[in-house]
Amino acid sequence: MGKHSAREPSVSRAEHEPYGARGLDEFSRSLALQRAADGELPEATSSNYRGKSSYAPYPMIYMREGDGAELTDVDGNTYLDFHCGVSSIINGHGPAAQRAAVKRQVDRGAYFATTYERELEAAELLNDMVPASDLTKFISTGTEGIMSALRLARAYTGKEKVLKFEGMYHGHTDYALVNVHPDVESLGTRSNPTRIPETTGVPRATMETVESIPWNDAALLEQKLERDGDEIAAVVTEAVMSNSGLLWPDDGYLADLRRLTREHDVLLILDEVVTGFRMGLQGAQGYFDVDPDLAVFGKAMANGYPCAALTGREDVMRFLEAGSDRATFMGTFSGNPLVVAAAHANLELLQETGESGYADLYERGERLTGGLREIIGDAGHDVFVPEFGGFFYVHFTDGESDPAEWREWRDLAPHTEEEPYERFASAMIGEGIFLPPKTGRINLMHAHTDAHIDEALEAAKEAITQV
Ligand SMILES: Cc1ncc(COP(=O)(O)O)c(C=O)c1O
Repeated sequence: MGKHSAREPSVSRAEHEPYGARGLDEFSRSLALQRAADGELPEATSSNYRGKSSYAPYPMIYMREGDGAELTDVDGNTYLDFHCGVSSIINGHGPAAQRAAVKRQVDRGAYFATTYERELEAAELLNDMVPASDLTKFISTGTEGIMSALRLARAYTGKEKVLKFEGMYHGHTDYALVNVHPDVESLGTRSNPTRIPETTGVPRATMETVESIPWNDAALLEQKLERDGDEIAAVVTEAVMSNSGLLWPDDGYLADLRRLTREHDVLLILDEVVTGFRMGLQGAQGYFDVDPDLAVFGKAMANGYPCAALTGREDVMRFLEAGSDRATFMGTFSGNPLVVAAAHANLELLQETGESGYADLYERGERLTGGLREIIGDAGHDVFVPEFGGFFYVHFTDGESDPAEWREWRDLAPHTEEEPYERFASAMIGEGIFLPPKTGRINLMHAHTDAHIDEALEAAKEAITQV
């Protein structure tokens, strides 16, 4: 218990009976650890994303180890992993070459306050692989990457505001936590939406520097840039909506976005934290042939290690060099040798895997999504399973609107239902298939095999009976 805490530790929602094959008694060590952690960490862990009720009706699951596509928790339960470290695992857990690279660096030392050869090698590799990357800076998280890209855009353009889209998550800075998953009823008009903070604590003055409109509407963007383009330094977007349902851009939308931002001297920042190295070797920019000024990578780039990258066009990135009119760029741990070793080894592995390895991964993904559509649909549910390369969503829908027509957050949010998904995911976890416990990205990795897909589909047949 924390020294100043007078409360008894609580384990919210965890006392319910699970829906899957595994009963609560099979999670007794996890449950005991959660109770203890509740007295030591707010929300009993460091990221609320994996907080107290995340896995309800199971307790928080304390994983002990991962190997390839398999996870084992502290109670000895094993799982096939399709959560993939919140999309950060692409090459399986602990591939030998990456483990060896990190161990080598551990033996040499963690950090010397200087640069080192591997940083150069990793930057060379990344700049070679990513079409729109001339220069790279390494940081620890996607959040930092987007935060730095926004500041850089302000410094470069001399303009103060940025434009993001409704339904997009770009990390947890104040600048990004506006209209992330807003209540559609409260959003106001499409051309002049209300700014809704995702959390308390975001200063109004900061929010006022963030403009937000619906995604996938080039005419609306054009109007907005014509009206306010003189004040807008950057438009930040993902190429697909990876955090709110996986909607795809309409044909030509990203090209329009690129053209319009150029016409208005606005930088285009492509958030590739999810899509990078999950959708092929060149990310979404390669797939859609879009040419951003800046792009941010993270997650799969380092296969589970906290390393991210801000990359981009040379003349913009040079604004991160020392100089009184430039944008500063710091971080004790930015480009830390341990995580850069992990990223470098992972990128080399991905190059060896090549596009043909990704094609195999997509094929396995298509078999899984096709099977899930059939199993869930045959059980009488309305389901929408969009996919993009290495990840997909399972949406249970209300059946009152055709998902093929959904273009943006305002279309999707009112027609998707959370509870059936949570029951399904919980039942799958009970069957030994580890999925995001709340509606979110379900991921593929190169360590999955055809047999793993069969196993997941067999589990789904059982799990759907619990929904
Ligand atoms: C699209 C997108 N951008 C940025 C981030 C922030 O990255 P991080 O969690 O590494 O700070 C995330 C995290 O999920 C993300 O999904």
